[in-house]
Amino acid sequence: MSRSESSFLDGKTAIVTGYGGVGYEVALALALRGAAVVVAGRDESKGRAAVERIERELEGEDARQGLDRRFPGAAFEMLDLFDPSSTRDFAARVIASRDHVDMIFCVAGVMMPDELGLTSAGVERQFAVNYLGHYELVGRLMPLLRASDGARVVTVSSIANRPTRFDLADAVAARDYVPSISYALSKLCCLMYALELNRRFPFVRACCAHPGLARTNLFSGSKGFTMSLLRVIFFVFPFIRQSARAAARPVLYAALSPDAVGGAYYGPMFAFAGPPRRALTPLRARNERLRERMWTVSEELTGVKYE
Ligand SMILES: NC(=O)c1ccc[n+]([C@@H]2O[C@H](COP(=O)([O-])OP(=O)(O)OC[C@H]3O[C@@H](n4cnc5c(N)ncnc54)[C@H](OP(=O)(O)O)[C@@H]3O)[C@@H](O)[C@H]2O)c1
Repeated sequence: MSRSESSFLDGKTAIVTGYGGVGYEVALALALRGAAVVVAGRDESKGRAAVERIERELEGEDARQGLDRRFPGAAFEMLDLFDPSSTRDFAARVIASRDHVDMIFCVAGVMMPDELGLTSAGVERQFAVNYLGHYELVGRLMPLLRASDGARVVTVSSIANRPTRFDLADAVAARDYVPSISYALSKLCCLMYALELNRRFPFVRACCAHPGLARTNLFSGSKGFTMSLLRVIFFVFPFIRQSARAAARPVLYAALSPDAVGGAYYGPMFAFAGPPRRALTPLRARNERLRERMWTVSEELTGVKYE
């Protein structure tokens, strides 16, 4: 990395949710470019371990460049997106300790848990963690984004963002819980949300990205048929998944590239893998009426109205 690259984000503050495969790589890349990074997640020991790894990488980078300058580095903050009170407390701590936030990367996610899980408000787990928790988080931090001179929000969708039915009632009552439909619904909402945020609040450049297929822990939890089949496919064709570092590139591109534009969707060139480029936005995500409906439901479920 050149010296100018490693100071590209000096003075910028970024929040990254999730310290797993993709989230870790996004946080590391931002920290290496000089941003102060808040790594937000639900497990303190995993979060602190991720921050320590980032700190070691930064020290190594300084040693390689022969500099004794310190990067602002990374700090861990507790955030459980499944628990609205945790999201509220996280936002309150950030607001109390900072006067601006420049970038929020909504990366944390869960995929197809076997058992239906519901928040205290009755919201299905994947919808809550992947989408609604992020809606609440960004909404609560809008005053700090407004104080930035170039606010960015990036959400993370998936190639699996085409649910066979689009019914937001599935997210709440979770009738006939079908893990793959709930996952796809949550990931479609991540995309619709970025487009709608960008449309409603022009001071934020909001984009969405998907990582293609990446070798991370996302596929390890479930014993269900779809996930078991995916694991077999990955075993037989290991090359269809890229590294977490490569998978993080579209997410970083959406926020940092001078060529990226608000309201766009990015992903790997060859769908599963490859360098970042514009991805195809599904028709439902382009439907403003659906997006408005989703926004209203999100306001009702969280009680958070964006300023
Ligand atoms: N890997 C892929 O091929 C792929 C494909 C398409 C989309 N994606 C998307 O990429 C994103 C990152 O996934 P990944 O592949 O990096 O998977 P991962 O390694 O499993 O990371 C997921 C992260 O989300 C965190 N998380 C889960 N529940 C949470 C909660 N309630 N509150 C806060 N954080 C929570 C996990 O923390 P814990 O470790 O503590 O559970 C973990 O840090 C996800 O949004 C996923 O949907 C991934």
